Amino acid sequence: MGSTGTAKKPNKNRVTRIYGSGAQDLAQAADVLARGGILAVPTETVYGLAAHALDEKACRRIFEIKGRPLIDPLIVHIHDLAGANRLAHWNEWADSLAKAFWPGPLTLVLPKKEIVPSLVTAGLDTVAVRMPHHPLLRKLLIMCNLPLAAPSANPFGYLSPTRPEHVLKSFGQKLEHLLDGGPCQIGLESTVVDLSQPHRPAVLRPGPVGPEDISEILGIEVLVETESRMAATTDEKVHSDTRGKPSPGLLHKHYSPGTPLVVLPCQDWTSQESPTKRIAKIAYRKPDQAELSRSSDMFWLTEDGDEQQAAHGLYDLLHKLDSLKFDLILIEPAPEGGLGTVINERLSRATGLKPDTIG
Ligand code: TXA
Ligand code: MG
Repeated sequence: MGSTGTAKKPNKNRVTRIYGSGAQDLAQAADVLARGGILAVPTETVYGLAAHALDEKACRRIFEIKGRPLIDPLIVHIHDLAGANRLAHWNEWADSLAKAFWPGPLTLVLPKKEIVPSLVTAGLDTVAVRMPHHPLLRKLLIMCNLPLAAPSANPFGYLSPTRPEHVLKSFGQKLEHLLDGGPCQIGLESTVVDLSQPHRPAVLRPGPVGPEDISEILGIEVLVETESRMAATTDEKVHSDTRGKPSPGLLHKHYSPGTPLVVLPCQDWTSQESPTKRIAKIAYRKPDQAELSRSSDMFWLTEDGDEQQAAHGLYDLLHKLDSLKFDLILIEPAPEGGLGTVINERLSRATGLKPDTIG
């Protein structure tokens, strides 16, 4: 995976057709999208399941393939500001944040324009737009010159994919086309910021761009709404929070592996042990030799505490451990701050717990 190379021919059992980074492959991948097809695409955050955002029929297929409820809106990816302006009513905040962080892992929620099908926005009067910086996806966006609706390329509620093999494993024959851009650089989903309410910018999903960076650019403190919304929101009533502008992706259980996952400081791990259970243990930082020689099935997110390395490898490790069929995965919370806070938020969602319950 991650190589260039030419597209493989589908055999009669309908395997997924994989496109590399060569010009001919990109042209074919762009053609799939122009004809209303679905293409899994790399981004710098996680892989996405993309379709022409103005083609309602194609976007409906995304929801079907993912098993995603129609109440959960999609992010639309564009390659320039003109593309964003075509879909959303732009404002000064959007201008400042786009200048500071685009292309990059930041999604802006803005009042939508008529042209965006309401299926894409789940009936909301806002649309989420993002200009990704993954070089291969940028080339594709420019080549096809279409806005691309793309949620993370995982079955609804499952872990996001950070490698092409995660996407292939999850969807099998349901997915006809995949653009192989190798492993995703960041490994956590974009920050989602709601700029649709006058005077109240709010982070709906924490991510690689931190709230303090956003506040500094806007010159106003951005609200971080995820925790209060999670407390106030149930899976059934995602359309009725206090702002009337929900982020349905805040459903309680999300980003989960199939194996039960418990977030627990290392010193409490023994409380979960039992002679009949096979337990995988994930420390944040590589344990010392003495510790490693005492325990089996030990894993870690970083060698030396580097938060980018931890974020980059988190979902990949959970995907691997999930396929090894442990009875339980124990994971130590990341140190709070920066990407550590985002990792902990995703872990709390994977276990269905609120962030303050994981320490
Ligand atoms: O990094 C990412 O954002 C990846 C890559 C593929 O770009 N995409 C992604 O998409 O994570 P998805 O669909 O898995 O998550 C999108 C989040 C969801 O929580 C969704 O509810 C929220 O964005 N969202 C989308 N449109 C919205 C809107 N109009 N208002 C509020 N939240 C919205
Ligand atoms: Mg997702």
